[in-house]
Amino acid sequence: MWLTSSSVGRKFIMALTGACLVLFVTFHCLMNAIAICWPTAYNQVCEFLGANWYALLASAGLALLFILHIVYALWLTVQNRKARGTERYLISKRPKTVEWSSKNMLVLGIVVLAFLVVHLIQFWAKMQLVEIRNVEGTLPPTAGTLFIQEAFSLVWTPIVYIIGFIALWFHMTHGFWSMFQSVGWDSTSWIPRLKKIGCWWTTIVVALFVAQAIVFTVKAHEDYYKTNPELRNQYIGMVAERLVPLFVPQVSEASYEELEQNLPQVAAQLPQQIKMVQANPGQVPEGQLEKMIEGNEAVQSIVAFLEYLKGGEPATEAVNETL
Ligand code: HEM
Repeated sequence: MWLTSSSVGRKFIMALTGACLVLFVTFHCLMNAIAICWPTAYNQVCEFLGANWYALLASAGLALLFILHIVYALWLTVQNRKARGTERYLISKRPKTVEWSSKNMLVLGIVVLAFLVVHLIQFWAKMQLVEIRNVEGTLPPTAGTLFIQEAFSLVWTPIVYIIGFIALWFHMTHGFWSMFQSVGWDSTSWIPRLKKIGCWWTTIVVALFVAQAIVFTVKAHEDYYKTNPELRNQYIGMVAERLVPLFVPQVSEASYEELEQNLPQVAAQLPQQIKMVQANPGQVPEGQLEKMIEGNEAVQSIVAFLEYLKGGEPATEAVNETL
């Protein structure tokens, strides 16, 4: 098949996947801007995307793009080295005009990939993956701003991100015009223009990422995403949803302050009540005990989450062991 058997076909795949990734990265930095300007709206978008079929489809498509881009990059590099034989070691013979980034695309790509692995562990694995696995996470998986809080309150996060952004800048500025050349658009008048457009595009996107990382770091160190009243009420709405089908549906309507005032008492009394019902099972309607146990788990985890918002450590699953 032309796309796999010929070098031109393989370069075409690199260019096509590269173009889609440039669009993704641009879209992503605009999404991050929403997190800065309208954090509650950002969480609504996270909730809307979540693990719904359309979001899963988009994530799978994106993963395929990354995989194809990386596999073809390695493949082309191996082919080029084979074709050039030992000549690749004679660096001095190369034309001086070959840019530094052009010679180091593979290394730059590997640095971006390393950044991406750290980034996906910090965000995707705790958000969409938690939803897919349907496990009880420590924080509500759709509260994107809380994961920003967690990631950027770590000292090393901005350092790793800035290194990733620098590598991304070099990789993207070269990749941008080189993808046009790969698909045959190599007119002498257009290449300089494309280089300029690519440089501007990449610089704006990367500068936005850098600015966002700085804003997130400052705000995370101020605990903004934990303490902002509007965000707190939004988080409470997310976690209290668990109580709707259980024995205290009115809790799901409550505000952060109401829950903070009343829920710890409920949480303190519930285990005792459950023990009493367990001792006299005949005194309650069938299924009531199971509902109480489930409700207790939800209440305890919400109380632990309230503690976390007040400045404690992330709520742990240990809260479910209160019985
Ligand atoms: C300040 C910088 C950045 C922040 C705050 C940020 C934030 C996030 C967040 C919150 C998510 C999770 C979305 C979800 O699963 O619902 C995410 C996912 C992701 N990010 Fe970033 N990001 C940043 C930079 C980047 C960069 C530079 C790249 C690429 C080079 C990137 C690639 C990705 C990818 C591939 C995903 C997974 C998307 C999916 O779930 O389909 N991010 N990011």
